[in-house]
Amino acid sequence: MTRINKTSKFAIKGALAALALGLSAQGALAEKVKVGLLLPYSGVYAALGNDIQAGFELGLETFGKEYDFVIANEDTEVKPPQGLAKARKLILQYKVDVMAGIVSSGVLGAVRDLVDGAKVPLIVANAGNDDATGAKCSPYITRMSFSNAQVNRPMGKWLAEQGVKKVFTLAPDYAAGRQMIDAFTASFTAAGGEIVGQEYTPFRKTQDFGPYLAKAKASGAEAVFVFYAGGEAISFVKQYDSFGLKKDIPLYGSGFLTSSLYVNAEGPAAEGVITSLHYVPTLDNPENKAFVEAFKAKTGRLPSEFSAHGYDAARALVEALNTGARGREGIANALRSVSFTGPRGETSIDPATGNIVQPIYVYETVAGENGLTQKVLASLPVEADPANGCAMPAPK
Ligand code: BEZ
Repeated sequence: MTRINKTSKFAIKGALAALALGLSAQGALAEKVKVGLLLPYSGVYAALGNDIQAGFELGLETFGKEYDFVIANEDTEVKPPQGLAKARKLILQYKVDVMAGIVSSGVLGAVRDLVDGAKVPLIVANAGNDDATGAKCSPYITRMSFSNAQVNRPMGKWLAEQGVKKVFTLAPDYAAGRQMIDAFTASFTAAGGEIVGQEYTPFRKTQDFGPYLAKAKASGAEAVFVFYAGGEAISFVKQYDSFGLKKDIPLYGSGFLTSSLYVNAEGPAAEGVITSLHYVPTLDNPENKAFVEAFKAKTGRLPSEFSAHGYDAARALVEALNTGARGREGIANALRSVSFTGPRGETSIDPATGNIVQPIYVYETVAGENGLTQKVLASLPVEADPANGCAMPAPK
């Protein structure tokens, strides 16, 4: 594997020359595949981007030994116009065979038309934007992470079944926040629950959640349900506790809130928070045990859902190549039929939408021997997302 170091002009120049000559650092024996990684290496989701990259590289090392991957990284920050410019650079300048990554639903929304028009396969390794596998689906977009609705829809029903009937919701004001809360709200109210208040906080700009927490407190809610991730999740969970709400109104959310990537930065404030997600490092299956051990050996820390997305995105690429698929069109087509048993359990791509089908777990953050850990409370039924307006020809 050849890495184009995002910070080194010399490395970029050298790798670009290698790309142009059709050469690679490993020589001519292994087959060369040019991969563009579009990730945030700065901004509120920088840690997520780095974790996805660590998982992706481990996945290529584990499953893709026969291929010589040349990786070009580009920093999307958390800004849709920046993401679009960087995607264009990977496609036109680096001439990549395939792109992977994208953390923010906003960035995914911005690059969708470019990817579809340029016919370049994109393996989404985080962004949950429902439209990308719904009304704005594309035969060139395959999602190996989750959709915003998929993670939150089952939680609405589950929470109502636990007897919680009045909920206040909060999320950042951008596509992911709105879609996650919409999905939770639809299933929670269908199961008899009531939303007693709902607020959206300015994305990447809110440092003081106090005014929103005051509204939650005054709302008469029995519970608060939120989506926050990365740096915003750490601030929110700590402020929820220090505001004194946690002891009176239990906190629930989508599982990014208490990701294993940063839960120990949240500290005791995160203890007892219950959330839903498609991956936690404590899942008890052999594929996950192997992944956790290999990730720990490589990085010295536990994996998170973000590293699992990277790892599975790399495996999906290798599985597509192993079918004999080559070139942008061939890889895009083969990605739509990928399925394997991985760290999250049975995972497959729904060829009708390009979205992943996978189990969803409810977990509680609890104190463990080495800090906070995840106790799985329930495994919710595997459900493919509805097509939501997606109409694509079947894969060839
Ligand atoms: C999103 O924007 O889709 C997203 C970002 C971080 C975590 C989960 C979803």
